[in-house]
Amino acid sequence: MSYNELYLESIQNPEGFWKKQAQELPWYSFPTEILMNAPNGGSHWFADGTLNMSYLCIDRHVEAGYGDQVAIYYDSPVTNTRSGITFLQLQNEVSKLAGGLQRLGLQKGDTAIVYMPMIPQAIYAMLACARLGVVHSVVFGGFAPHELAIRIDDCKPKAIITASNGIEINKIIPYKPFVDEAITLAKHQPEKVVIYDRKLGVHIPSQDYDVDYDSLVETSEPVEPVPLEATHPLYILYTSGTTGTPKGIVRDTGGYATALKFSMKYVYGVGPGEVYWAASDVGWVVGHSYIVYGPLLNRNTTVLFEGKPIKTPDASTFWRVIAEYKVGVMFTAPTAIRAIKKEDPTGALLEKYDLSSLKYQFLAGERCDISTLEWTKEKLNVPVIDHWWQTESGWPMLANMVGVELQSVKPGSASFPVCGYDIQIIGVDGNPCAANEEGFVVAKLPLPPGCLLDVWNNTPRFISGYLERFPGYYFSGDGGYRDEEGYVYITGRVDDIINVAGHRLSTAEMEEIVASHPAIAECAVFGIYCELKGQRPLGLAVLKSGMEISSERLEKEVVQDVRNEIGAVASFKQLLVVKRLPKTRSGKILRKLLRNIADTSEYSVPSTIDDVAIIDKIKEIYRLNNLGNFKQQAV
Ligand code: COA
Ligand code: AMP
Repeated sequence: MSYNELYLESIQNPEGFWKKQAQELPWYSFPTEILMNAPNGGSHWFADGTLNMSYLCIDRHVEAGYGDQVAIYYDSPVTNTRSGITFLQLQNEVSKLAGGLQRLGLQKGDTAIVYMPMIPQAIYAMLACARLGVVHSVVFGGFAPHELAIRIDDCKPKAIITASNGIEINKIIPYKPFVDEAITLAKHQPEKVVIYDRKLGVHIPSQDYDVDYDSLVETSEPVEPVPLEATHPLYILYTSGTTGTPKGIVRDTGGYATALKFSMKYVYGVGPGEVYWAASDVGWVVGHSYIVYGPLLNRNTTVLFEGKPIKTPDASTFWRVIAEYKVGVMFTAPTAIRAIKKEDPTGALLEKYDLSSLKYQFLAGERCDISTLEWTKEKLNVPVIDHWWQTESGWPMLANMVGVELQSVKPGSASFPVCGYDIQIIGVDGNPCAANEEGFVVAKLPLPPGCLLDVWNNTPRFISGYLERFPGYYFSGDGGYRDEEGYVYITGRVDDIINVAGHRLSTAEMEEIVASHPAIAECAVFGIYCELKGQRPLGLAVLKSGMEISSERLEKEVVQDVRNEIGAVASFKQLLVVKRLPKTRSGKILRKLLRNIADTSEYSVPSTIDDVAIIDKIKEIYRLNNLGNFKQQAV
């Protein structure tokens, strides 16, 4: 079947199409209701079916005789550890941890936060929650205690599952102390904190709520998976929104399982038994869908890599992993490739390895620049597939569906809509854009299975953020266009969200922190071009009158504030002091203008600006700080 035929079937007969896909999974009871309108304006898929994600990812494979197949290769250059965990071992670990969590009082419908580095216990924790119907919320380790506290107060976990430490290249990251600090900052108090002690020789002060992970597992009996309704939330994953408060994306169980299973075969072209590697982190949606649930559902061996593309120990580490585990399909962010390319521009390090197992290299998480795509293709000699999706969708929305039909790759484009997504480009007025005309990227409702159910505790935000702007459509928050051949190009966010090294961050949240410095009257934070990370945040601040503080000291303090509040992952490193900020006559800060001048000399000053002269002053400050493309302008 061609891509066009399969895609059209999914759009013309969504219920029939997804019912057939759902039949690929063993349900406890197969749904009779395939698609229903949900009260919040979204959709419920397979509402009266029951299943369990932990069963689908583990037990069914053991029952089918694959207990000895490696489920997880854990490769940790930072601890010099390599191990293979079979499906049988995974079943033992997960079912006993689930037994332990049950003993601590966790049951279906409770929530638990998982704050862990890239170690197998993070996957065990997610699957153990899924086994019981406990809704997990994994928080990325690069977030600071303050961010963790926000999530604790929003999802009110009964327990937090964490590790003593993480390791970033050669730095020990204090995970458990961060959890203790977050609990002090939060209003909600979890009953227990389960700690996996990595025995790295770092003393961790103990608290009354502490429970030792190893002892809990050792002293607990395994438990069976609990049958759950398809719409039971599997997890909450917080992501940056356009306000300072992150939003908890709620994922269902049945729709997600169906969509992931479908995507492994049709999007990624990977069959059961093959090795699949998503070099991301369990704290992001890529980690949820394609380190943990997708590959395990599909009986792939997943690679859990606790390292970086460079420096652990060098830019050959990705190639070593592919060769060592015979990875068939790999997924990473363009930033990772840019980092490798910078260290090893000729790809000399690649030549040491036999990469013949690799069929496809997938890239996502941020816009992929053409030179990165071309370099990867030339060096790996396999199709390099840029594909587009988001935390909200949970699985790809635009891709070259190699499992159906490999289409020619057009650099700069994430190719075509994936089955189930009726992607359209529309203008401010809601009308379709012409070919090559840029507009908002939307998906006609209903969304296919697997997409967000709601925003946790905040249905109004779900409605206003995604459904209200263009009635009848899901609004992605991205801009883009479609060419005359139907290839879609994503040009970037149309809101305050920036993408730093494939990490989605809110500039509104950073602005709140910068603005709270006692010396600052007002500020603007926006994303500017960064050769390595795609974007990086830049702050401009206006001092309160009479404030005596050097720019260097202010920058140091504010950078530390952002690091303390959001975390190191924000990569906020630069704050410039300006006399005033350019605004419209109605008082709106012209952030886009500030960003455009910092990135390039091509910018246009809106006629609504209140003071044109300020632009030259800001340009001068940029010039002094080596920002902007002024040299080129002079030529
Ligand atoms: N736990 C604790 N801290 C973390 C962390 C984690 N899981 N992940 C990142 N950090 C910290 C880093 O140590 C760094 O701290 P520093 O400022 O003290 O050095 C900071 O957050 C920024 O990290 P990062 O954005 O990763 O930048 P980097 O300069 O350390 O590394 C790259 C650059 C390109 C190697 C790295 O960004 C990378 O591997 N990117 C790929 C990202 C990716 O795969 N994203 C997938 C999303 S789909
Ligand atoms: P996240 O929710 O963290 O996965 O981030 C999703 C956002 O990352 C999207 O809304 C896009 O802005 C951006 N993004 C992800 N993949 C791509 C891609 N292939 N091309 C361009 N932007 C992308």
